Amino acid sequence: MHKLTDIEAAAELADLARQIARHDVAYHQKDAPEISDAAYDALRQKYKALLEAFPHLRPENDPETRVGAAPALGFGKVTHAIPMLSLANAFSDEDIQEFVERLRRFLHLSESEAVVFVAEPKIDGLSCSLRYEKGQLTVAATRGDGTTGENITENVRTVASVPKKIEGRVPDLIEIRGEIYMERKDFFALNARREKDGEALFANPRNAAAGSVRQLDPSVTAKRPLRFFAYAVGEGDGLPFTTQEDLRKALRAWGFKLNEPSRLCEGTDALLAFYRALEESRYELPFDIDGIVYKVNRMDWQKRLGFVSRSPRWAIAHKFAPEQAETRLKAIRIQVGRTGALTPVADLEPVTVGGVVVSHATLHNEDEIKRKDIREGDLVRIQRAGDVIPQVVAVDFKKRPEGSTPFVFPDHCPECQSLAVREEGEAVRRCTGGLICPAQAVERLRHFTSRQAFNIEGLGEKRVRELWADGLIRSPADIFKLKEHEDALKTREGWGAKSVENLLKAIEARRTIALERFIYALGIRQIGEATAKLLARHYGTLEAWVDAMNKAQNDQSPARHDLESIDQIGPLIAEGLVQFFSEPHNRDVLESLAAQLVVEPHKKVSSKKESILAGKTVVFTGTLATMSRAEAKAKAESLGAKVSGSVSSKTDYVIVGADAGSKADKARRLGVVLLDEEAWRAL
Ligand code: IVH
Repeated sequence: MHKLTDIEAAAELADLARQIARHDVAYHQKDAPEISDAAYDALRQKYKALLEAFPHLRPENDPETRVGAAPALGFGKVTHAIPMLSLANAFSDEDIQEFVERLRRFLHLSESEAVVFVAEPKIDGLSCSLRYEKGQLTVAATRGDGTTGENITENVRTVASVPKKIEGRVPDLIEIRGEIYMERKDFFALNARREKDGEALFANPRNAAAGSVRQLDPSVTAKRPLRFFAYAVGEGDGLPFTTQEDLRKALRAWGFKLNEPSRLCEGTDALLAFYRALEESRYELPFDIDGIVYKVNRMDWQKRLGFVSRSPRWAIAHKFAPEQAETRLKAIRIQVGRTGALTPVADLEPVTVGGVVVSHATLHNEDEIKRKDIREGDLVRIQRAGDVIPQVVAVDFKKRPEGSTPFVFPDHCPECQSLAVREEGEAVRRCTGGLICPAQAVERLRHFTSRQAFNIEGLGEKRVRELWADGLIRSPADIFKLKEHEDALKTREGWGAKSVENLLKAIEARRTIALERFIYALGIRQIGEATAKLLARHYGTLEAWVDAMNKAQNDQSPARHDLESIDQIGPLIAEGLVQFFSEPHNRDVLESLAAQLVVEPHKKVSSKKESILAGKTVVFTGTLATMSRAEAKAKAESLGAKVSGSVSSKTDYVIVGADAGSKADKARRLGVVLLDEEAWRAL
């Protein structure tokens, strides 16, 4: 690593920082991590080691000086008077020894002076700050990026273990910080319910807790079995505590739940002994813990130790290694997700790991199988790092059965036999059967009826699922034949004559549809609303479009060239379109739909008028990653926006790039809508 040149190291650091930032957004904002916690920790460790070797090359969006991800749009913002920080991680006994020695040196302690720590479990949930004024809960906020979080007050009010009012000797103002989490049994029950209702499952209790809290509708949160434990205070007037232990006692007296088991430990050996004991018994706890937090007990010492970048010097999280087990891999099965992604899954001889019995593991994708040379019949080591679905870590090659053969990843969808293709630069292979693939059908039909597509009111996910299961709607054209089943529908449980009449009326009203909506509704990969509009504008009529797409199958044809030369349509989108049309099932669907509908030709209007940016004032601040400032400005103007250099109450949107400064702050104060680069591009 040290042999890297500065240029190489800088590139590597920037790349790692970008990856970490992307995973931070997936984890903190979208509650949908793409990699395991262990893989994330490994990324961070790699980054840290490289930065230690090249300290002068710290990249601009340095993850070590940033916590989590900026708050998502959709919730109000709360600025934390005292930042909500994170904890440094330790993975070994040596890390703990170093931690203790470092703080002893920092405090200039003599050898005879002991340091006492409070050790308590680290529960992975969603950190939350609760503000109490005169004892009343007034604001609850997420951590966000540490400085600004989301206002989740109404949602948090539905959590039973959060006191709405605290009594006794309470300061006029106090902020209680802690973690919202879900117990294991509640988590499994929630997932079982979701599975029954055909909803996507949560990967782990942390995602379930975070996803439940960050619901825009508090009544949804109220139905989720959330709990809260308190571990710290933020802002507060005249707090009398001299030790962490005192603080815990006060929190308890105010009615908060604390995370147990905890222990006062004197010195490193006591910490490590507690760690070993809890590592052994952790699966007896009703919640998953991913480590133990050690905190210096004396508050005066905490104050002197202070903080370094994103975490306190007086505390550390000692992480548990994910538990591993060995078992036989019986078979590799290909699952087709709602978006058509083919995911390989390992069927295992059941084995207990991380406190639960597992019989499946994820194999991620075909490259992963190849890289680890995983075969059916192998003895494999698996590990579970908090998630329900464990991973296969490695194969025990010595115990490989004789005559085993490498796994061949299918190039056809196991559900509908359509071609499954892998786009350049993508790890995932996808089924192209879209509308006819049973694994994707409900999702596709739901997309088809959604507001931006056919906008059929009364045909949401639940009903689509029901009608699909009963065979009444198998393909989009069936929607327009539903009126043949009017009588049967009216007698269905929970439907009613009136609602069926309304539904059929809504369907009839959509028999005439604009070309751009029609194209978007097909749910072709890469074809969002904007691209559908471009295609409609370019080809004008359904017939012309279909004809061109059929001709474009030949990649040397003028039709293909014409398609790729449409402004903003690149080879990737073109490829997706061509593939869609190469699938006979898709052509059948199009034909039967066309027979039911009147697809209106595209109406020519000035592009400036139809843009949602028309007449809006926008301001750019910071550095954009995917386009230059000049390009962004030209783009905005071409869509009819006015680009201004300064923020005022007349500004409609502020587009915030990396390292944005005072303009973004001003916009926040004025309540102007902030867009990150991704949101801006989407717009
Ligand atoms: S103390 C100033 N104690 O883990 C440090 N945090 O990875 C305040 N967490 O941001 C944190 N259990 O959200 C503390 N017993 C515990 C915790 C805990 C879980 C969370 C917390 C923190 C994150 C750091």
